[in-house]
Amino acid sequence: MEVVLSGLNILCVCLGNICRSPLAHAVLESKITSQMDEGERVFVDSAGTSDYHKGQRSDSRSIEVGRMKGYDLRHIRSRQVVQSDFVEFDYILAMDQSNFEDLKAICPIEFHSKIHLFLDFSFKYASLDVPDPYYGGHNGFVKVLAMIEDAADGFVAEINNRM
Ligand code: 4NP
Repeated sequence: MEVVLSGLNILCVCLGNICRSPLAHAVLESKITSQMDEGERVFVDSAGTSDYHKGQRSDSRSIEVGRMKGYDLRHIRSRQVVQSDFVEFDYILAMDQSNFEDLKAICPIEFHSKIHLFLDFSFKYASLDVPDPYYGGHNGFVKVLAMIEDAADGFVAEINNRM
């Protein structure tokens, strides 16, 4: 199937870039590349609004819940959002309202329309936040992954419809 997302650059953003946005990164990468034809290219990346975990691998709980559902996060290292992201990425997907506001505060006005609340693309969880699972247990990460998978399906469907 042809994916009309081809050529797009997509950035997933949360606070630390170790729990939620790496899961969104891996899920979108997997869902999009599994539908792509040879020669098509979509770039998916993730970043944090903070530099708290700069250079670190994803949280082991995110790696584990991802692995259980076939998503590989092992190539992802935490980095902070930089100004050039607002130029280079077409879709900047904030995991929660706080990330959304923090991004808007540092993004040049002409690029504000690139920033979206990720769950606005979700069928089941529209307009909610992907909750920060960092201080909770395994079940919080399972819930986060379910929300992210639903939003990723909605995102791919919406972009395909739009083009
Ligand atoms: P994330 O989760 O934003 O989903 O990566 C967090 C990771 C670390 C912290 C907060 C949230 N922290 O405060 O260190």
